[in-house]
Amino acid sequence: MDEKLKDDVLVCRCEEVTVADIKEAIKQGARDVTSIKLRTRAGMGLCQGRTCEALVQQILRQEIGVNPQEAGFSTPRTPQRPVTFGTLGGENFNE
Ligand code: FES
Repeated sequence: MDEKLKDDVLVCRCEEVTVADIKEAIKQGARDVTSIKLRTRAGMGLCQGRTCEALVQQILRQEIGVNPQEAGFSTPRTPQRPVTFGTLGGENFNE
C-alpha cells in the first residue's frame, strides 16, 4: 500500500499543483488523469506527465479506488517554452 501524501506535497512542480489541488479536482468530479490535467494543469509542464502522472494515479487510487488502467494516461503534447520577440526576430540566433 502506498503511503498517503500530505496535502501540501507538490505533485506537478512546474505547474505548482499540490495533492490538495488534485483532491479538490476529484471532489469536483475528475475520475482520470486527463480530467485531473484539465482541471489543475498537472502534467502540462516540462515533464509532460513522465514524473507526475504516477502520483496523480496514486492519488486517484487512494481517494476513489481507481486502478491505473481506469485512470488512463495523459495525452502528450509538444513541449512549449516561452520565446522572446527578439528570438522570433532573429536576435541571438546562434544561442
Ligand atoms: S511535474 Fe509538471 S508536468 Fe510533470
